[in-house]
Amino acid sequence: MNFLPVVTIDGPAGVGKTTLAARLAEKLSIARLDTGAMFRNLAFKLGPGAEHLTEEELRGHCAKLAFNLAGSGAHTRLLCNGQVVGEEMRSEEVGMRASRIATVPAVRDALKAAQRAIGERIPLLAEGRDMGTVVFPDARFKFFLDATAQVRARRRLLDLEKRGEIVDLPTLTKQIQKRDEMDRNRATAPLCAAADALIVDTSNRDIDSVLGVLLLHIEAGGGA
Ligand code: DC
Repeated sequence: MNFLPVVTIDGPAGVGKTTLAARLAEKLSIARLDTGAMFRNLAFKLGPGAEHLTEEELRGHCAKLAFNLAGSGAHTRLLCNGQVVGEEMRSEEVGMRASRIATVPAVRDALKAAQRAIGERIPLLAEGRDMGTVVFPDARFKFFLDATAQVRARRRLLDLEKRGEIVDLPTLTKQIQKRDEMDRNRATAPLCAAADALIVDTSNRDIDSVLGVLLLHIEAGGGA
Protein backbone atom coordinates (compact mmCIF):
# COMPACT_ATOMS: atom_id res chain seq x y z
CA MET A 1 0.00 0.00 0.00
CA ASN A 2 1.33 3.39 -0.89
CA PHE A 3 -0.78 6.16 0.60
CA LEU A 4 -0.21 9.84 1.01
CA PRO A 5 -0.47 11.08 4.65
CA VAL A 6 -3.81 10.05 6.10
CA VAL A 7 -5.62 11.11 9.29
CA THR A 8 -8.36 8.75 10.48
CA ILE A 9 -11.33 9.34 12.76
CA ASP A 10 -13.40 6.36 13.81
CA GLY A 11 -16.26 6.08 16.26
CA PRO A 12 -19.88 5.05 16.81
CA ALA A 13 -23.04 6.60 15.36
CA GLY A 14 -23.85 10.13 16.48
CA VAL A 15 -20.51 10.82 18.14
CA GLY A 16 -19.93 13.90 15.98
CA LYS A 17 -17.35 12.53 13.53
CA THR A 18 -18.79 14.24 10.49
CA THR A 19 -18.90 17.74 12.00
CA LEU A 20 -15.49 17.32 13.56
CA ALA A 21 -13.95 15.86 10.41
CA ALA A 22 -15.17 18.88 8.42
CA ARG A 23 -13.59 21.28 10.94
CA LEU A 24 -10.31 19.36 11.17
CA ALA A 25 -10.01 18.87 7.41
CA GLU A 26 -10.51 22.62 6.99
CA LYS A 27 -7.72 23.36 9.50
CA LEU A 28 -5.38 20.88 7.80
CA SER A 29 -6.41 21.94 4.27
CA ILE A 30 -6.98 18.36 3.16
CA ALA A 31 -9.98 16.57 1.69
CA ARG A 32 -12.45 14.76 3.93
CA LEU A 33 -13.74 11.30 3.11
CA ASP A 34 -17.04 10.48 4.85
CA THR A 35 -17.11 6.71 4.40
CA GLY A 36 -20.46 6.42 6.21
CA ALA A 37 -21.88 8.45 3.30
CA MET A 38 -20.58 5.78 0.89
CA PHE A 39 -22.44 3.00 2.73
CA ARG A 40 -25.51 5.25 3.10
CA ASN A 41 -25.45 6.13 -0.60
CA LEU A 42 -25.59 2.47 -1.54
CA ALA A 43 -28.31 1.74 1.06
CA PHE A 44 -30.36 4.74 -0.12
CA LYS A 45 -30.11 3.78 -3.79
CA LEU A 46 -31.08 0.16 -3.13
CA GLY A 47 -34.06 1.07 -0.93
CA PRO A 48 -35.67 -1.10 1.77
CA GLY A 49 -35.16 -4.27 -0.32
CA ALA A 50 -31.36 -3.94 0.15
CA GLU A 51 -31.36 -6.17 3.20
CA HIS A 52 -32.78 -9.09 1.23
CA LEU A 53 -30.24 -9.06 -1.59
CA THR A 54 -27.68 -11.84 -1.84
CA GLU A 55 -23.98 -11.10 -1.46
CA GLU A 56 -23.51 -11.62 -5.21
CA GLU A 57 -26.30 -9.17 -6.01
CA LEU A 58 -24.77 -6.61 -3.65
CA ARG A 59 -21.34 -7.16 -5.23
CA GLY A 60 -22.91 -6.46 -8.63
CA HIS A 61 -24.47 -3.20 -7.40
CA CYS A 62 -21.17 -2.06 -5.84
CA ALA A 63 -19.36 -2.69 -9.12
CA LYS A 64 -21.55 -0.05 -10.77
CA LEU A 65 -20.46 2.70 -8.33
CA ALA A 66 -17.45 4.95 -8.87
CA PHE A 67 -16.63 7.25 -5.95
CA ASN A 68 -14.54 10.38 -6.05
CA LEU A 69 -13.90 13.56 -4.07
CA ALA A 70 -14.04 17.17 -5.23
CA GLY A 71 -12.77 20.19 -3.32
CA SER A 72 -11.17 20.09 0.11
CA GLY A 73 -11.61 20.93 3.79
CA ALA A 74 -15.16 21.55 5.01
CA HIS A 75 -16.24 22.00 1.39
CA THR A 76 -15.20 18.55 0.20
CA ARG A 77 -17.94 16.86 -1.81
CA LEU A 78 -18.34 13.13 -2.24
CA LEU A 79 -19.27 12.14 -5.80
CA CYS A 80 -20.82 8.86 -6.87
CA ASN A 81 -20.83 8.26 -10.62
CA GLY A 82 -20.20 11.98 -11.09
CA GLN A 83 -23.19 13.09 -8.94
CA VAL A 84 -22.76 14.88 -5.59
CA VAL A 85 -23.90 12.63 -2.72
CA GLY A 86 -26.41 14.85 -0.92
CA GLU A 87 -28.07 14.98 2.46
CA GLU A 88 -31.10 12.88 1.45
CA MET A 89 -29.55 9.74 2.94
CA ARG A 90 -28.97 11.12 6.45
CA SER A 91 -32.09 9.60 8.08
CA GLU A 92 -31.69 7.02 10.85
CA GLU A 93 -33.66 4.54 8.72
CA VAL A 94 -31.05 4.72 5.95
CA GLY A 95 -28.29 4.60 8.62
CA MET A 96 -29.71 1.32 9.92
CA ARG A 97 -29.97 -0.14 6.40
CA ALA A 98 -26.39 0.99 5.72
CA SER A 99 -25.26 -0.72 8.92
CA ARG A 100 -26.96 -3.98 7.82
CA ILE A 101 -25.44 -4.10 4.33
CA ALA A 102 -22.07 -3.05 5.83
CA THR A 103 -21.88 -6.50 7.46
CA VAL A 104 -21.59 -8.13 4.01
CA PRO A 105 -17.92 -8.81 3.13
CA ALA A 106 -18.40 -8.12 -0.62
CA VAL A 107 -19.75 -4.63 0.18
CA ARG A 108 -16.89 -3.91 2.58
CA ASP A 109 -14.30 -5.13 0.06
CA ALA A 110 -15.71 -2.98 -2.75
CA LEU A 111 -15.90 0.18 -0.63
CA LYS A 112 -12.50 -0.46 0.95
CA ALA A 113 -10.97 -0.62 -2.55
CA ALA A 114 -12.70 2.67 -3.46
CA GLN A 115 -11.53 4.32 -0.22
CA ARG A 116 -7.93 3.19 -0.72
CA ALA A 117 -7.95 4.29 -4.36
CA ILE A 118 -8.86 7.82 -3.20
CA GLY A 119 -6.18 7.64 -0.46
CA GLU A 120 -3.58 6.83 -3.10
CA ARG A 121 -4.46 9.98 -5.04
CA ILE A 122 -4.78 12.73 -2.40
CA PRO A 123 -3.94 13.41 1.28
CA LEU A 124 -7.06 12.56 3.27
CA LEU A 125 -8.93 12.84 6.49
CA ALA A 126 -10.96 9.62 6.46
CA GLU A 127 -13.80 9.04 8.91
CA GLY A 128 -15.88 5.95 9.57
CA ARG A 129 -15.74 2.74 11.60
CA ASP A 130 -12.67 0.88 10.33
CA MET A 131 -10.44 3.61 8.91
CA GLY A 132 -7.59 3.23 11.42
CA THR A 133 -7.92 -0.53 11.85
CA VAL A 134 -8.50 -1.91 8.34
CA VAL A 135 -8.56 0.60 5.50
CA PHE A 136 -5.60 2.83 6.43
CA PRO A 137 -3.66 0.87 9.06
CA ASP A 138 -0.53 2.99 8.37
CA ALA A 139 -2.30 6.34 8.81
CA ARG A 140 -0.10 9.09 10.27
CA PHE A 141 -2.62 10.12 12.96
CA LYS A 142 -5.52 8.02 14.24
CA PHE A 143 -8.38 9.12 16.47
CA PHE A 144 -11.24 7.19 18.02
CA LEU A 145 -14.13 9.29 19.36
CA ASP A 146 -16.58 7.92 21.87
CA ALA A 147 -19.53 9.14 23.98
CA THR A 148 -22.39 7.51 25.85
CA ALA A 149 -25.37 6.34 23.76
CA GLN A 150 -27.57 8.90 25.56
CA VAL A 151 -25.31 11.81 24.63
CA ARG A 152 -25.02 10.59 21.04
CA ALA A 153 -28.78 10.19 20.70
CA ARG A 154 -29.29 13.78 21.91
CA ARG A 155 -26.74 15.06 19.38
CA ARG A 156 -28.34 13.05 16.57
CA LEU A 157 -31.79 14.31 17.58
CA LEU A 158 -30.66 17.95 17.19
CA ASP A 159 -29.11 17.07 13.85
CA LEU A 160 -32.24 15.36 12.55
CA GLU A 161 -34.46 18.20 13.85
CA LYS A 162 -32.37 20.67 11.86
CA ARG A 163 -33.18 18.59 8.77
CA GLY A 164 -36.88 18.65 9.62
CA GLU A 165 -37.09 15.02 10.80
CA ILE A 166 -39.12 14.48 13.95
CA VAL A 167 -37.95 11.55 16.07
CA ASP A 168 -38.42 10.95 19.80
CA LEU A 169 -35.38 10.57 22.03
CA PRO A 170 -36.13 7.10 23.51
CA THR A 171 -36.69 5.63 20.01
CA LEU A 172 -33.52 7.24 18.70
CA THR A 173 -31.48 6.02 21.69
CA LYS A 174 -32.67 2.45 21.03
CA GLN A 175 -31.89 2.75 17.29
CA ILE A 176 -28.39 4.03 18.05
CA GLN A 177 -27.77 1.20 20.52
CA LYS A 178 -28.97 -1.35 17.96
CA ARG A 179 -26.70 0.14 15.28
CA ASP A 180 -23.74 0.13 17.74
CA GLU A 181 -24.37 -3.52 18.42
CA MET A 182 -24.35 -4.37 14.70
CA ASP A 183 -21.29 -2.20 13.94
CA ARG A 184 -19.28 -3.50 16.92
CA ASN A 185 -20.14 -7.18 16.62
CA ARG A 186 -19.99 -7.90 12.88
CA ALA A 187 -17.40 -10.45 11.77
CA THR A 188 -15.69 -8.23 9.16
CA ALA A 189 -14.00 -4.95 10.17
CA PRO A 190 -16.02 -4.33 13.36
CA LEU A 191 -16.04 -0.91 14.98
CA CYS A 192 -13.14 -0.71 17.44
CA ALA A 193 -10.25 1.59 18.23
CA ALA A 194 -6.92 0.88 16.53
CA ALA A 195 -4.21 0.00 19.05
CA ASP A 196 -2.34 3.20 18.10
CA ALA A 197 -5.40 5.53 18.05
CA LEU A 198 -5.87 8.40 20.49
CA ILE A 199 -9.22 7.68 22.19
CA VAL A 200 -11.21 10.79 23.06
CA ASP A 201 -14.36 10.61 25.19
CA THR A 202 -16.45 13.49 23.90
CA SER A 203 -19.41 13.01 26.29
CA ASN A 204 -18.58 16.14 28.27
CA ARG A 205 -16.81 18.14 25.58
CA ASP A 206 -18.13 20.43 22.88
CA ILE A 207 -16.85 20.41 19.29
CA ASP A 208 -14.29 23.20 19.85
CA SER A 209 -12.81 21.40 22.82
CA VAL A 210 -12.50 18.08 20.93
CA LEU A 211 -11.03 19.86 17.93
CA GLY A 212 -8.43 21.41 20.27
CA VAL A 213 -7.43 17.96 21.59
CA LEU A 214 -7.03 16.58 18.06
CA LEU A 215 -5.02 19.56 16.82
CA LEU A 216 -2.73 19.43 19.85
CA HIS A 217 -2.04 15.76 19.21
CA ILE A 218 -1.20 16.45 15.56
CA GLU A 219 0.96 19.48 16.39
CA ALA A 220 2.87 17.35 18.91
CA GLY A 221 3.58 14.83 16.12
CA GLY A 222 1.30 12.25 17.72
CA GLY A 223 2.89 12.40 21.14
CA ALA A 224 0.48 14.56 23.17
O1 DC B 1 -21.19 7.14 9.99
P1 DC B 1 -22.61 6.83 9.51
O2 DC B 1 -23.62 6.85 10.61
O3 DC B 1 -23.00 7.72 8.37
O4 DC B 1 -22.54 5.33 8.94
C1 DC B 1 -23.68 4.61 8.54
C2 DC B 1 -23.39 3.11 8.66
O5 DC B 1 -22.43 2.72 7.66
C3 DC B 1 -22.79 2.64 9.97
O6 DC B 1 -23.76 2.37 10.97
C4 DC B 1 -22.04 1.41 9.58
C5 DC B 1 -21.60 1.70 8.16
N1 DC B 1 -20.19 2.11 8.07
C6 DC B 1 -19.25 1.10 8.11
O7 DC B 1 -19.58 -0.06 8.30
N2 DC B 1 -17.93 1.42 7.94
C7 DC B 1 -17.54 2.67 7.77
N3 DC B 1 -16.23 2.94 7.59
C8 DC B 1 -18.48 3.73 7.76
C9 DC B 1 -19.82 3.40 7.93
